[in-house]
Amino acid sequence: MKPFEVAKDIYWVGAIDWNIRDFHGYSVHNGTTYNAFLIMDEKVTLIDAVKKEFADKLIENIAEIVDPRKIDYVISNHTEMDHSGGLARVMHKVGEDKPLFCSSIGQKSLSRHFPQKWNYRAVKDGEELKIGKRTLAFLETRMLHWPDSMFTYAKEDKILFSSDAFGQHYAGTERFDDEIGEAIMPHARKYFANILLLYSPLILKLVDKVQEMGLALDMICPDHGILWRKEPLKIVQAYVEWSRQNPKRKALVIYDTMWHSTELMAETIVESLVQEGVDAKPYHLRRWDRSDIMTEILDAGAVIVGSPTLNNCMFPTVSDFLCYMKGLKPINKLGAAFGSYGWSGEATKLIAKELEEAKFKLVDQVKLQYVPDRSGLEACRELGKKIAAELPK
Ligand code: FEO
Repeated sequence: MKPFEVAKDIYWVGAIDWNIRDFHGYSVHNGTTYNAFLIMDEKVTLIDAVKKEFADKLIENIAEIVDPRKIDYVISNHTEMDHSGGLARVMHKVGEDKPLFCSSIGQKSLSRHFPQKWNYRAVKDGEELKIGKRTLAFLETRMLHWPDSMFTYAKEDKILFSSDAFGQHYAGTERFDDEIGEAIMPHARKYFANILLLYSPLILKLVDKVQEMGLALDMICPDHGILWRKEPLKIVQAYVEWSRQNPKRKALVIYDTMWHSTELMAETIVESLVQEGVDAKPYHLRRWDRSDIMTEILDAGAVIVGSPTLNNCMFPTVSDFLCYMKGLKPINKLGAAFGSYGWSGEATKLIAKELEEAKFKLVDQVKLQYVPDRSGLEACRELGKKIAAELPK
């Protein structure tokens, strides 16, 4: 995409990654973008870079607006390589001696990624930088989602350059929220559920802090996806709601199966939940990507996990999923375990242990030998009823 004006004299100069489908293990069905911004003021300022493979595109886009050598300041809000990978190429083009603004932890992490002795200017939380008509204020957002992360706020324009926060992995021809409408929200939700969920308590604190500061927001420009200009507060409110993780009358039955017995148990539990008025669905782990399942977990009240026993363990896909989910620290969930086994049957107990370690309230566990019979399926139906009874009405 060619550069475009975000606001007067502020340009998007980033890159679109149409073909990426796996973003360090997270499925990105629609690709993504690496947004970078150029502010044309007395001091020409570049905010953020792009992934290494797209550095030439960034430089080409900058060159459509200004000779890259005329850039005075470079700001790096975040070290992760999808934003700083192209920095070496950019600094070489812009001038290795130009000031590079970042947080103090950003300086440490950038210097571990790049051997060049750049002219780092570590900024403190709340520090301001005058670039001509404009004032840029830096806001540290440690652990949202890396220790180095920070926002840059253009005070006069009331634009927040929010790094990863409020982003979406979405590549399209739309550039702003008003051009895509509600269709962007599932992408923003998936991004939150898979990247930011574990930092929910910090997000709520940050939103409180920003409200106390009275920060006016005409636009939020994240480093991925579309830019929020019509309703910037809509995504902030969505983050507050998602961070609270209030459970709904919704359950996910997540499983793998070898000879369809655990599958039959999963589908029976789902039927029972649905009969009890619960929004429930089965998720076969070799049919669903774990990041799509994680998105559905966000507002669910119950997560019921099933596995056959394989070599005295749970099935590897189930272990993979539990590891992923535990790391994201969802809260306010009921849990249950189930599974079919042949002769040893450890999987159900191992799943229950994992769920308890993840601080889920364990409702029950059901394990059945070989193929479920009538009484086994009745036990599955009972499990569904028990869970339904504990979910919000
Ligand atoms: Fe988009 Fe944390 O990088």
